[in-house]
Amino acid sequence: LAGVAIAEVPKLEQKDKYKVGFAQTESNNPWRIAQTNSMKAEAEKLGFQLVYTDAAGSAAKQVADVNSMIAQGVDVIFLAPREEKPLIPAVMAAKKAGIPVILLDRSVDPSLAKAGEDYLTFIGSNFVEEGKRVAEWLAKNANGKSKIIELEGTTGSSPANDRKKGFDEAIKAAGGFEIVASQTGDFARDKGRQVAEALLQAHPDADVIYAHNDEMAIGAIAALEAAGKVPGKDVLVLSIDGGKEAVQAVVDGKIAAVVECNPRFGPKAFETMMRYAKGEKIDPMIINDDKFYDASNAAAELANAY
Ligand code: AHR
Repeated sequence: LAGVAIAEVPKLEQKDKYKVGFAQTESNNPWRIAQTNSMKAEAEKLGFQLVYTDAAGSAAKQVADVNSMIAQGVDVIFLAPREEKPLIPAVMAAKKAGIPVILLDRSVDPSLAKAGEDYLTFIGSNFVEEGKRVAEWLAKNANGKSKIIELEGTTGSSPANDRKKGFDEAIKAAGGFEIVASQTGDFARDKGRQVAEALLQAHPDADVIYAHNDEMAIGAIAALEAAGKVPGKDVLVLSIDGGKEAVQAVVDGKIAAVVECNPRFGPKAFETMMRYAKGEKIDPMIINDDKFYDASNAAAELANAY
């Protein structure tokens, strides 16, 4: 019926080979590269054609990338939405074109688009839980440190929103801590370094830096060293992602603890798509398992980090 919204995800035909779109948000860090490599490797293993795009950090380009995939007639779109709201039109355009969308790693605003209706499912980590795990570790291992600088991820993205929520709520519940500043570093190393440098000048008594990802944590370590402070001694640095460089920094004592955000999406993403084509019921959220690294296990786990 014209003008009536369809409350159903488009169907996916069962075929031997698919043409699949993967709309990546950016490629400026090892996490994104690991995710892309995992998707490309799985598509190749299955002999599926992968239409890959990199939005280079622009939500507007990512919307255009999805529209181009629709025009190319892909069977399914895997989308890692850069921000929660600006990617809604892309999700809706794919639905209107009869192409199921699977959200990978980041989500969209749940009040504007729903799993099982507008897109099939979200596959990724529980970001609220990641932030909470960092806070709980800090509450147990602070050794008197209490003044926190928080480096937030990309403004308007689901990991930045949820990692902040999980951490801030748990640290408030723990009591005895103060978040002296919280500012975006856009999930980027150099931006993280610059923001950490400015915030350390404004708050010289800060003794904890919680970064929403490894890249900003590594940038913050550079800012601390440039300021003549010793990371791990004067200031505890905490992070999320768990890439090799960060786990090595835990071994070296520069990062105190890291919650992994598992980037190995390929097998689960393609398996979910094929289960859907077979007619299986798909859960609205499929949550990845994330490890945790601190001084107790980092050396032993280093070889397994991406
Ligand atoms: O959405 C996951 C986050 O995005 C990762 O923590 C970060 O490194 C990436 O850019």
